[in-house]
Amino acid sequence: MDSLKGRDYLTIADFSQEEVWSLLELARDLKAKQKAGLPHQLLKGKTLAMIFQKASTRTRVSFETAMFHLGGLAMFLSKNDLQMGRGEPIEDTARVLSRYVDGILIRTYSHQEVLDLARYADVPVINGLTDDFHPTQALADLLTIWEHKDTLAGLKLAYVGDGNNVAHSLLLAGALVGMHVAVACPQGYEPNPAVVEKAKALAESPEQIQLLREPEEAVRGAQVLYTDVWASMGQEAEAAQRRKVFARYQINRELLAMAEPEAIVMHCLPAHRGEEITEEVIEGPQSVVFDEAENRMHAHKAILAALLG
Ligand code: CP
Ligand code: NVA
Repeated sequence: MDSLKGRDYLTIADFSQEEVWSLLELARDLKAKQKAGLPHQLLKGKTLAMIFQKASTRTRVSFETAMFHLGGLAMFLSKNDLQMGRGEPIEDTARVLSRYVDGILIRTYSHQEVLDLARYADVPVINGLTDDFHPTQALADLLTIWEHKDTLAGLKLAYVGDGNNVAHSLLLAGALVGMHVAVACPQGYEPNPAVVEKAKALAESPEQIQLLREPEEAVRGAQVLYTDVWASMGQEAEAAQRRKVFARYQINRELLAMAEPEAIVMHCLPAHRGEEITEEVIEGPQSVVFDEAENRMHAHKAILAALLG
């Protein structure tokens, strides 16, 4: 775990399989401690600056609560609160914040901005979502699958929908831990080919990573079904067009019936019921979306404790 101290968390592929497992084990341990009412104040006196250029419910509240439980302090900084909103360069923001705080979380549009922040910051930088990646979500997702299925390696995860930030991080995360990841997307909405190549390189064999057109083919034999919104933050203007393109990429009762009988259904949330997932499925017995949302906080505690501890 000492190998993680002082590191950034920009994509999950920055970490080895062993490091990801050490984070998962720490998350499970910290979750058990919290449930048992045992103290786990591993970050007494430490502070985290949280820069949000996009909306958030889960990421913001779970990181803020995680820091509090760990004995530290988190500061929520929206774009409008910072001089960044008035044009102060990210390079200066990074160097100034590094003089005050022990870590910086950022949610923004451009992944390059996060890379720039990390380059100029002297403290660990955590990617709380960019247009390209959502790595803190992916760790919580692995924790959730592990809890429900008792294992990760060898499982098949089918992702149905947009080849977006969440899909990218799941491809990398799944590949790292030996899962089979099948992604079904409409033409023109596939994941970035460089990310797919990276996932294939991380996987034990490239066949573990599959890019498909048909949702039915993706979910066959899957123990985990996953979807995300059709229009991500920043794509609101494309929403109507995307509703047409993605109409057939919905997790509904019929699609779920084609997966393994005990398959779990996941969604990073927020969800649009009636679009990428039906009300019946998200509220149904196979849905684990609220366990998944809860696990954001436990996974974040592990990331914070490992990087800032
Ligand atoms: N899943 C997720 O990142 O949710 P928020 O946008 O609410 O943080
Ligand atoms: N793909 C979504 C995920 C939200 C948590 C977005 O970027 O808006």
